[in-house]
Amino acid sequence: MSGRVAPRLTIPEIRASKHRRPRRPLAMLTAADAPTARLADEAGADIILVGDSLAMVALGYETTLSVTMDEMIHHARAVCRARPRAVVIGDMPYLSYHLSVGEAVRNAGRFVAEAGCAGVKIEGGLKRLPVIAAIQDAEIPVMGHVGLTPQSCHVMGGYRFQARTAEAAERLVEEARCLDEAGVFCIVLEGIPAEVARIVTSQVSVPTIGIGAGPDCDGQVLVMHDVLGLTWGETPRFVRRYADFATDGARALARFVEDVRAGRFPAEAECYELPEDEAARLRERWEAGGGGLGTSPPATRSRRAGGEE
Ligand code: KIV
Repeated sequence: MSGRVAPRLTIPEIRASKHRRPRRPLAMLTAADAPTARLADEAGADIILVGDSLAMVALGYETTLSVTMDEMIHHARAVCRARPRAVVIGDMPYLSYHLSVGEAVRNAGRFVAEAGCAGVKIEGGLKRLPVIAAIQDAEIPVMGHVGLTPQSCHVMGGYRFQARTAEAAERLVEEARCLDEAGVFCIVLEGIPAEVARIVTSQVSVPTIGIGAGPDCDGQVLVMHDVLGLTWGETPRFVRRYADFATDGARALARFVEDVRAGRFPAEAECYELPEDEAARLRERWEAGGGGLGTSPPATRSRRAGGEE
């Protein structure tokens, strides 16, 4: 083993990947803590998004609207502590960029300064341009996000597929173009027809990353808990499950519970023991009444602990 660590990916590399030939789509996964960050990184993801979807998949909230800035920073710090090779992006939660431009810059800066993220993601198009410009002025790269934007679920009347008419599709293309001109380094396209995503992708100079947006984006993203089957209930049709962690995990945990109840856990190999000489001394002291309990000692095993103190 050379001990060499692969160099970390950078935002300019992500931006430039649009023009790489042969084409190599970007893979983005969400992560919520250090182990999920490691899984994403070991899988070779280019970008790890500390998505506000963690509100639902990791924190049990009903929607993404409840997660706070402090909670997002707590999770982003855990993800960054895994020191992934992938670019880590923090997702600006609801109300962290809506109240004032100054507050938005401060909150975006927390993802970078406190957590160690390389940039932030912001939902929305035209009306977010002033905030995006100010955050970028503070040297923080921004990832755009248009189409189905979950933080607008009440305005949209639920998690509704977007850009379903020609007019709406044109408006979406325009929003994406404006984000591109504003300098975002890539754009998430969520829950829109594949055809619209294809047009957007051809019209912007930065990579598009799709989720429920068909195959012609420059990359794809899924929520890791969906990919691993670590969610309960229905998943949207664009999710592909590659594992069933919930079922496998519940089975494994049920085996642990059964083993505990049946006395099969822990086994000898899972226990620490006194070295033989110390066990003999303890027996002697005990028999001489030094144990202080006035009872006979339990049988001690003679095997030595495996080198652990
Ligand atoms: O919060 C999230 O996980 C996201 C992705 C689905 C793009 O915004």
